[in-house]
Parts: sequence; C-alpha cells; structure tokens
Amino acid sequence: MKTPFQESGGGKPVVLLHAFPLSRKMWQPQIDALGAAGFHVILPDLRGFGENHNFADINSMEDLAKDISDLLETLKIESAVIGGLSMGGYVTFNLYRLFPEKFAGLLLFDTNAAADSEEKRESRFDLIDEIEKSGAQALIDGMLPNLICDWTKENNPDLVEKLKAMFAQVNPRAAIAALRGMAERKDHMNLLKDIDVPTLMIFGEHDKITNLEIAEKMKSAIPGAALAKIKNAGHYSNLEQPEAFNDALISFVKLVDIK
Ligand code: MLT
Repeated sequence: MKTPFQESGGGKPVVLLHAFPLSRKMWQPQIDALGAAGFHVILPDLRGFGENHNFADINSMEDLAKDISDLLETLKIESAVIGGLSMGGYVTFNLYRLFPEKFAGLLLFDTNAAADSEEKRESRFDLIDEIEKSGAQALIDGMLPNLICDWTKENNPDLVEKLKAMFAQVNPRAAIAALRGMAERKDHMNLLKDIDVPTLMIFGEHDKITNLEIAEKMKSAIPGAALAKIKNAGHYSNLEQPEAFNDALISFVKLVDIK
C-alpha cells in the first residue's frame, strides 16, 4: 500500500506526521520555512486522511508507523529527523519502538507517550457515537473548541474557519477508525528512558489535550530532551504560532547529524 505524501526542499530529511483529524496540509506554515533552512521535508497523509483513502475498521498506531517505515524504504532514506503532532506523535512512538535506527532526531509536538486513561477512552467512544449521528460536524462541535487556545479564537478567526473547513472534509468512517486506533494504543512511557537520539519537544502553553504537565513528565524521562513552550498557543502549536514553532524546530534540526 502506498502512502501519499508531499515533499519539498533538499538536504537533511525531516518527516512530519500530522494530527487527528487533519492531514499533511496542517504543515502548510512549515513547508517554506523548512525548505529555506535547507531541509528535505516529507509530509505523509496517514491512513484515512487527506489523499490517503486506505483505512480499516481500526487504524492502529502501529500500522500507521509501519506505513511510514515503508515510505522511508521507498524513498531510500535510511535515517531522518522524524516526529509528529499529537496523533502523529503516537505514531512516532510506535515507529521509534519498532525502527529506532531510522531516527537521527526525534520531534514530539503536543503529544503524549502514555496510553489513554479509562476516562479518555470512554470520551472517544462517546465521540464515535456522535460521529455516527452527525458525521464530521461532531468533530467541529465536540473537539475543535478544546484544540485551540482563547488567544487564537480572539485573534485568528481565519485559522478557526480554516480548521472548521478541514474538519468538515474528514471522512467520518476514517475518523472513527483512527479514534479506535488511538483508544487501543500502547503505552510508551517506558520507552522514553531508552531514547538515544537528540529530541525536541514543542508544546503550546495552553494545550488542554496534551498539557505542559505531560510535557514536563516526558522531558524528565527522555535523556537530554529540550522543551520549547509556545506562548499564545493551544494544542495546534504549529498552526497557532508558526513563527515561534518554526524557530524552535529549525534551530534544533540544524544541530542534528544525519549519517
Ligand atoms: C490529535 O490532535 O491528534 C488528537 O487530539 C489526538 C487525541 O485525540 O488524542
């Protein structure tokens, strides 16, 4: 199965995995900046999202990770700086566990190494019920308000509208498959102490989904990890404050050695 992706620029490969329920288009504010910094940016669409129309009843985070490993093989990229935001981070933890040799550096944005709590799992099943009833609108009503911070709501109405439009395009069956996959994902907290590549974490200061407490806990477990906290940003830190996000990302990638 082929994973659709977008690439641009040349130089150090940087693979960015998108959040739920978005697609590779969420990295629009990063593409030019990373290209101009001299990096080869690779942006896959994970199963069920964007141009990737392949999905099952449950999209496990492990299967999504294997897709990325296959894509890197196809592109003949032996190692890269790899990471993702939120669901993209869940996929990244699986990829690191299965194929650590593919990582020259690790990027964790607004994500969590822990599995879902029972309460979180229940809330996913409630959201699945809502999606069954009202389709993608359930994502706009039930998720979006918690994803972006108050500053963004007040100062960046264009982004709010763009996100609504992106959510509206989501295939409800694919969203359900991903929610089931996230609900049953493995816990990777024990993996953190074994991470032995340079690691950058970027988190929005007002992220309500994967908050700074989670970020600090992961930072203290990952040897040498750096954490950039982004002001006036919620869960979608790369979209809400692209300049601060890009600065942190570019400074980090410049220092990573790729074999
Ligand atoms: C995401 O942004 O990918 C989702 O909020 C992840 C989640 O629901 O756990």
